[in-house]
Amino acid sequence: MSNNRREFIKKGALLIAATPLIGMNGCSKDKEINKCTTSDDILGPYYRESAPFRADLNVNNQLGTLLTLSGTVYGVDCETPLSEAIIDVWHADHTGDYDNSSADYAFRGKINTDSNGRYEFITIVPGQYLLGGGSDYRPGHIHFKITASNHNDLVTQLYFAGDPFISSDPWASQEDAAERTVTLAVDSNGNKTGIFNIRLTPS
Ligand SMILES: [Fe+2]
Repeated sequence: MSNNRREFIKKGALLIAATPLIGMNGCSKDKEINKCTTSDDILGPYYRESAPFRADLNVNNQLGTLLTLSGTVYGVDCETPLSEAIIDVWHADHTGDYDNSSADYAFRGKINTDSNGRYEFITIVPGQYLLGGGSDYRPGHIHFKITASNHNDLVTQLYFAGDPFISSDPWASQEDAAERTVTLAVDSNGNKTGIFNIRLTPS
């Protein structure tokens, strides 16, 4: 190898080393880690600890619009997928009621991300429900609790674009909830699909 060629490779390596690692959403590994962190939301009153691991949450074949939700969990650098993360989800049925006591744990379940950091579960579109017995409805939403080694737990909620109750909801109307408000695609059978990618912070 010529000296010129050797020098070129050496400089190239230095240039790569000096370049910040730019991840999804343009975030920098070094300085702007928070920009690629999925924002949190309230746990709410209906979380149950011991939901089973499963990908189909509609165990009783209840009424509702079929929803397939999928995504990828990313870690510290905004772009490395996290395998073996645990995604714990829970939501109301199509009328807005939660299963708070039965052994079925309807519309509740945990899923492990695969080797590519992906998860997918099948459920129904949750209904809206009255907030605290008042006259204000919460928009339809799905609760998430995500845990992964070496990362902070994340408790958050997913909302659906076009829901008329988002603007009046104290949580869904917050600015950072916009990144957690997904547009659902509808197929010819009326079934819906959505994608929710999640980014965790290192612990
Ligand atoms: Fe809720």
